[in-house]
Amino acid sequence: MDKILFTGAAGQLGVEIISKLRQMYGPESVIATDIREPKGLLKDGPFEFLDVTDEAAIRAIVKKHNITIIYHLAALLSAKAEQNIDLARRLNTGSLHYILNIARDNKLKRVFWPSSIAVFGPDADSNGTPQNSQCNPTTIYGINKLTGEQYCAYYNRVFGVDVRSLRYPGLIGYKTMPGGGTTDYAVDIYHKAIKGEPFECFLDRDSRLPMMYMDDAVKATIDLMHAESKTLTVRTSYNVAAISFTPEEIAASIRKFIPGFKITYKPDYRQQIAASWPNYIDDTIARNDWGWKPSYDLDKMTEDMLKNISQFWD
Ligand SMILES: NC(=O)c1ccc[n+]([C@@H]2O[C@H](COP(=O)([O-])OP(=O)(O)OC[C@H]3O[C@@H](n4cnc5c(N)ncnc54)[C@H](O)[C@@H]3O)[C@@H](O)[C@H]2O)c1
Repeated sequence: MDKILFTGAAGQLGVEIISKLRQMYGPESVIATDIREPKGLLKDGPFEFLDVTDEAAIRAIVKKHNITIIYHLAALLSAKAEQNIDLARRLNTGSLHYILNIARDNKLKRVFWPSSIAVFGPDADSNGTPQNSQCNPTTIYGINKLTGEQYCAYYNRVFGVDVRSLRYPGLIGYKTMPGGGTTDYAVDIYHKAIKGEPFECFLDRDSRLPMMYMDDAVKATIDLMHAESKTLTVRTSYNVAAISFTPEEIAASIRKFIPGFKITYKPDYRQQIAASWPNYIDDTIARNDWGWKPSYDLDKMTEDMLKNISQFWD
């Protein structure tokens, strides 16, 4: 019987992946952890407070629950990381190093750790960025993620740790508010639209970024973690793509459902981060290795977001 430790469980992605894992493995088999009190969704199974910058505390929980698999999602996202470089290193890179040591020492079956399209910098091919394009990030978050990817590849090669990773694009979902990333605008915009309010965007109108609807992100994660180890040729982190759009294009998609919706633009420091990232990325290797294929385009995502987001304000 597998026992899963999940870190960063109260986050935007955590609540969504945990729901799926609890359906698959049974609620008691997924130990949700975070430094924040979990809201409704996480109360249907075990929860423990865990600070992932404390290696001894992680080791104790792994032992207590006989953990066999870890999903390590606790992190400081891109915009927040720029404002706290020390914490970003401890959280985004340091805690991964602890988890990899723990996986090696306890012979865990598998580890999942997310990277990001932020590993690419301005010198990457920004249209259809290939898996092995230049990775010279100019943000602290990108530097943390790139370092983490190299730790993963090293621990896989040298110690045989079966760690798997995805370079998520910006993620869009309705169950929680996002945690301080550069692509957060693409969630906030739906909340304003459903309340009938105008939206002021912190990115430029034509700032194109790779994005993904949450259902697709959950599917990609679960599919990768259940793929046969021998089919995986990338042990840093896989490019995964779904949709790519500008603020102007998401606003136009919303207007198909809410015709009077208005957007204005007031770019701030996050525009500089966005400008350093690709427009869209190439995920051929993920498609070939483990059959990755997204289900949502922009309008399908908009329709689903607007249909479901009202529950957030009930
Ligand atoms: N959301 C995105 O658009 C996106 C894009 C690319 C990659 N990712 C990656 O996916 C992962 C999850 O992202 P998310 O959007 O759910 O982030 P989030 O900010 O919503 O959630 C992160 C969680 O980590 C928790 N946390 C913070 N410090 C902690 C600590 N010291 N110990 C334990 N928990 C702590 C927070 O309380 C929070 O619940 C992260 O690794 C992130 O870098 C996210």
